Amino acid sequence: MDQRILLCVTKLREEEQLIIQHLNEEGIQVEVNLDSMDLPLGAGAADSYGLALIRCLSQKNALSRSHLLDLAGYDTLNTNQAIAVCTNKIHQAIVFDNAGVPQPRFQIAFTPAKLSEGLQTFGDLCVIKPATSSWGRGIARITGKECLDGWLAARESVDPAHQSFPVLVQEYIEKGDYDIRVVIVGRTPIAAFRRVSAENWKTNTHLGAEIEPIAVNEEIAAICNQLVEVLGEGIYGADLFFDYTQLRYVVCEVNQNPEFAKSWKIHGVNVAKHIALYVKDTIEQKKGAQLALNTK
Ligand SMILES: Nc1ncnc2c1ncn2[C@@H]1O[C@H](COP(=O)(O)OP(=O)(O)O)[C@@H](O)[C@H]1O
Ligand SMILES: [Mg+2]
Repeated sequence: MDQRILLCVTKLREEEQLIIQHLNEEGIQVEVNLDSMDLPLGAGAADSYGLALIRCLSQKNALSRSHLLDLAGYDTLNTNQAIAVCTNKIHQAIVFDNAGVPQPRFQIAFTPAKLSEGLQTFGDLCVIKPATSSWGRGIARITGKECLDGWLAARESVDPAHQSFPVLVQEYIEKGDYDIRVVIVGRTPIAAFRRVSAENWKTNTHLGAEIEPIAVNEEIAAICNQLVEVLGEGIYGADLFFDYTQLRYVVCEVNQNPEFAKSWKIHGVNVAKHIALYVKDTIEQKKGAQLALNTK
């Protein structure tokens, strides 16, 4: 019998179209659910779907929709818990700290005064990040007191009550002109590439960084393994730095809905197919577990 999954999206980008195509090839039907549509949440609705794949563009929608589906008894991919951690940089910092995942030194600043303290702690050079953001938006490199005063004054004019605090403050990592994106599907790092930018210290591809494929070495694989232990199996885009001061890899952040339309054409790994096969495996495992329960 054909399986069916629910695919939650904001719009069908090239990524989702490819995933649907590969799922169909594996005999899995896909019901597309746009952010503007009702979710099938009635009693027993979850039983009609193998799982719900969450690929909403807005992090807020990914979080709220996976939460509702989770409450209604769906298995969601990624889990609501993983999405909750990945969509908040402050949550990530705390969870990774607890689990001993290597990451830049950080502070969580609840007040402007704490920001000045953070800047001093990190040697007059730090990065300020809002808890929820992506594509490099709102990420600021602070290069001294005057720079911080400018950041605070600009912020104060639009947010006099400091409602956008707390923010994350990280040490600035001497990472060369690149960071590393690793695509994880299930438990496996399936592809890795450098995002290189000579002009911009923010190496997001959206801001123009170039893609250079690299092999997943042992250290990168070990960090990915640690991330999967902490977040659970799933589909992730992990951003790593090679810290040239400490000569080790650290985790910048983990994304829960990695884009791959542009990058896979360069590194050649068929991410959509990996995702489709992983969805199929997950559904089959669930069916197997249910069968074992019923025959007990
Ligand atoms: N602590 C840091 N040190 C050096 N560069 C950083 C640091 N944090 C972020 N960056 C740069 O800024 C980019 C965006 O930061 P990131 O935390 O990944 O936010 P976003 O969710 O917007 O991608 C990173 O890819 C990296 O190039
Ligand atoms: Mg990033």
